Amino acid sequence: MNVLWIFAHPEPRSLGGSLRDEGLRTLREEGADVRESDLYAMKWNPVVDAEDFGSAAQGGRLIVGATSKNAFVSGELSEDIRAEHEKLAWADTMVVQFPLWWYGMPAILKGWFDRVFVKGFAYGVRRPDGRTSRYGEGALAGKRAMVLLTAGAPEATIGPRGVNGEINDVLFPLQHGTLWYAGMSVLPPLTVCGADRVTPEQYDVAAEALRRRLRTLSTSDPIPFRSQNGGDYDEDLVLRDDLAPGRGGVGVHTS
Ligand SMILES: Cc1cc2nc3c(=O)[nH]c(=O)nc-3n(C[C@H](O)[C@H](O)[C@H](O)COP(=O)(O)O)c2cc1C
Repeated sequence: MNVLWIFAHPEPRSLGGSLRDEGLRTLREEGADVRESDLYAMKWNPVVDAEDFGSAAQGGRLIVGATSKNAFVSGELSEDIRAEHEKLAWADTMVVQFPLWWYGMPAILKGWFDRVFVKGFAYGVRRPDGRTSRYGEGALAGKRAMVLLTAGAPEATIGPRGVNGEINDVLFPLQHGTLWYAGMSVLPPLTVCGADRVTPEQYDVAAEALRRRLRTLSTSDPIPFRSQNGGDYDEDLVLRDDLAPGRGGVGVHTS
C-alpha cells in the first residue's frame, strides 16, 4: 500500500499532530510505504493566482492553451503542483487530515485542492461514449481516500438530529464533490469529537480507533456514493424518481 498523508495543521504538537504521528507510525508498522504533504511545514501556497489561472477562465470558461503558464490548461504547471501530482500518482491511498474550522477545512487545505486537483489531472476526462468521467469515474479512479478530522463539537451534537448536523453532510463538498467527483473511493471518515478537551483516556480511545481504521484501509467498504454514469441519474444528471422516492438533500446520493 502506498499512502499519501495530507496534513493541514499549523502546530505539530497539537492533538492533530499527535494523531498524525500515531497514524504514520501505524502505517509503517503495517508495512505500508508512506509519504506526507505537511502543508504548513511545506509553506504550501494555497492561492490560485492570476498567473495560474490566466485569462483562460474569463466568463467562467476554460480555453485550452489560451495562456502559457495556466495551471488549469497548459500542462506547464508550477513545480510545487507537479510535485504533488507525482505523489498522488504514486499513491493508491490518500489520508486527508485536518481540524474542522468553520464547518470546513483550513484554507491552506482548500487551496491544496484548488491548485492540485486541476483539469486533466483530477477531472475533465471523457469516456469513449462522450460522457464526462466524474462521480466515481475519472482520473483518480482506483485510489482510496479517507478523511481524518478533529472537531471541537461534542459527539452528541454531531448526528442526524444534533445541532451541528451529520458529519457526512458537513463533509459532502469534500467527500462527494471533490474526492468522489475525481473518481476516488471514499472510506467513511474518522472524526474525533470534543477535540478541545481530550483527556489522556479519551486520547487512547481515539488513537486506538485510528489504528484500527488504518489497519483496514485497503479492505474496508467505501461510502456507497452513486456513480454518475451507472444508471441512477437521468440525462440531466437528476436522480431517477424511483430511487429515494420523495426524498431530497445530499443523502440521496448514497445508495
Ligand atoms: C478557526 C476555528 C474554527 C473552528 N470551527 C469549528 C467548527 O465549525 N466546528 C467544530 O466542531 N469545531 C470547530 N473548531 C474547533 C476545532 O475543530 C478544534 O479546536 C480542533 O479540532 C482541535 O484539535 P487540535 O487541538 O489538533 O487543533 C474551530 C476552531 C478554530 C480555531
